[in-house]
Amino acid sequence: MSSDSAPSESIALSIAGLVRVLQISDTHLGANAGDDLLGVDTDRSLKDVLTLAQQDGFAQHLTLVTGDIAADGDPEAYRRLEKYLEHFGSDTEPPCLWLPGNHDDYPSGLVQYPHRTRRMVETDAWMMVLLHSQQPGQVGGYLSDVEIARLDSAVDRANEADKHLLVALHHPLHSIGCDWLDGQRVSNAEHFCASVAECNRSVVVISGHVHQATDQVLDGIRYLTTPSTCVQFAPNQVEFKVDQIGPGYRWLELSPDGQVQTGISRLPADLHIADTKRRGYQ
Ligand SMILES: [Fe+2]
Repeated sequence: MSSDSAPSESIALSIAGLVRVLQISDTHLGANAGDDLLGVDTDRSLKDVLTLAQQDGFAQHLTLVTGDIAADGDPEAYRRLEKYLEHFGSDTEPPCLWLPGNHDDYPSGLVQYPHRTRRMVETDAWMMVLLHSQQPGQVGGYLSDVEIARLDSAVDRANEADKHLLVALHHPLHSIGCDWLDGQRVSNAEHFCASVAECNRSVVVISGHVHQATDQVLDGIRYLTTPSTCVQFAPNQVEFKVDQIGPGYRWLELSPDGQVQTGISRLPADLHIADTKRRGYQ
């Protein structure tokens, strides 16, 4: 299966009012439960973040997992994610969809989960499209012609139906103020920007990869990034630096009029402490 033959059918959700979306990102699950990233047990921290989301009572209509599911693409990572997310979405409702990141093994690692890799969700007022930005063997992001065409068609459908657009992808499109991460953003972002500029209504873009929350509006488009469920990276750094702030998730409430309310919910900082002496990670 290649990215252009992956399941792409649209999921239709009959939601006339607020659409509640939960974003989980960069879970970095290893081959075995108990494996760690920079000293953080990534299974434990993910499970604690999911418990937090349930305790928060957000009642999402849709959960999006925006890549780097696995630390190194091991099939066991996807099996365990499926188990951990059993209360967050079934094959029907509320849907729970996954995107690959640069640490994932796509398509083979995700081939058993076609119900998790659908690419379009449509509600009464919003069109949502999931794009793949990973490149084999590369850390940085890129959108192939197939992905840009998928985005173009989502913009066309949104305009035809007079709907707003949410785009989810692993890599950010723009600089976030961290030099060491900014070189890994989508390298052909100009094609993305040209496409979403054609959208007649509101556009919001959600990404992972940078293990930190950012919120920018550029040319009228809202660009959000989201914390990892494990290790956090410090903002505004030239070089790699771990942040001592708790893991978390992003929630979004999408209004029928195109407004977006969003925020981050985090665990306490002392629950999953990363090794700050490490100078990088693989
Ligand atoms: Fe990544």
